[in-house]
Amino acid sequence: MGWKSSVAVTSAFLLAHYASAQSMLRFGCSQLVIERSDPLVNPGLNPSSHTHQVVGGNSFNFSMDPAVMDPAKESTCTSCTYSEDFSNYWTASMYFRSPENGTYKLVPQFANWRRLGGDEKLPQEGGLTVYYMPPFGGNTKVTAFKPGFRMIAGDPNLRSKEGTYPGICHRCQGNGDGFAPCDSHDTSEFPLKMCPGGIRATVIFPGCWDGVNLDSPDHRSHMAYGTGGMGALAGADCPATHPVRVPQVMYEIMWDTRPFNDQKYFEGGKQPFVYSFGDGTGHGQHGDYLFGWKDDALQRGMDELGKNGCYDDNCSSALKIQDGKEAIACTKASQVAESVGRNGEWLTALPGNVPVTYK
Ligand SMILES: *[C@@H]1O[C@H](CO)[C@@H](O)[C@H](O)[C@H]1NC(C)=O
Ligand SMILES: *[C@@H]1O[C@H](CO)[C@@H](O)[C@H](O)[C@H]1NC(C)=O
Ligand SMILES: *[C@@H]1O[C@H](CO)[C@@H](O)[C@H](O)[C@H]1NC(C)=O
Repeated sequence: MGWKSSVAVTSAFLLAHYASAQSMLRFGCSQLVIERSDPLVNPGLNPSSHTHQVVGGNSFNFSMDPAVMDPAKESTCTSCTYSEDFSNYWTASMYFRSPENGTYKLVPQFANWRRLGGDEKLPQEGGLTVYYMPPFGGNTKVTAFKPGFRMIAGDPNLRSKEGTYPGICHRCQGNGDGFAPCDSHDTSEFPLKMCPGGIRATVIFPGCWDGVNLDSPDHRSHMAYGTGGMGALAGADCPATHPVRVPQVMYEIMWDTRPFNDQKYFEGGKQPFVYSFGDGTGHGQHGDYLFGWKDDALQRGMDELGKNGCYDDNCSSALKIQDGKEAIACTKASQVAESVGRNGEWLTALPGNVPVTYK
């Protein structure tokens, strides 16, 4: 078998696995808050430089020290489907910047495909879809994270394709969609055309850990992407420097950009969306992660995959599932007294007066 056909066979195999959905935990987390706080990048700073949407355990705050506090111990509720998951997941919010007058409007969100959010029992409000994936081939055993573990994927300073993270991408939905996340249908920048089905933003974290450090100064170098998968996704083979295969974390954030679909905003290689950290290109999209599953719940869930009907948001044989209404009810007041545009109001500047840059 030639190299090319063996690659094709491998990806067909991986795609089939991806489609079977037996092999992962995948569930919704509703919005906890949108505010300017970031205990990972700006610990103790109130407010932090730009807004994030935060989901997960409600102990999240700007001054918590991830090195000493465990969200599973401090939280009293979580906005995620699995009620033993008090981890915090946070990403930038997206704004429409009016090409007519330069004011900003928060882009609304919508539910992800299939049962996620579309299910009566598990409705979802804003937030994101979280994935924990084992490798799709080879040794599929993974080691769950420990309390205090945290990481970042992506780089907010990027404004071009150079150096772009392999696992950061945007899908222009309803436009000849691809299949696997961050495949060739997706782009690291915001789509430069109107998307009939909105935009799906994907953040794929690395799946290999150095086994020692719960964090690193850049919040990245204690992790590495494995090989043998599809791009950033699902590789089973970890480098010797980062030998421990952990569950691969991925976020999907669904943005309802349809209210802004006017061809005049998409002429001449332009598009009207910006991220809250002042990125007018989308290349700087990034995600923050702080582990907070109770006791060994994550390990139990990963070990149960494919058994007793355990998959996606339905791993009731190993994990506790809460009603979607309870998850939605877990919210948190903003720690910063300012409007972030949640009521559809136009803002004269991005929260924190962040300037928008394109290179
Ligand atoms: C932040 O969270 C930590 C841990 O839950 C708590 O000790 C601290 O009081 C909180 N700080 C604020 C300002 O809410
Ligand atoms: C700014 O432009 C948007 C359309 O891009 C419009 O809906 C909004 O009303 C305008 N705001 C002002 C203050 O003119
Ligand atoms: C969820 O899992 C249970 C068994 O744990 C099964 O009976 C049920 O049909 C599953 N629901 C869905 C929607 O797959």
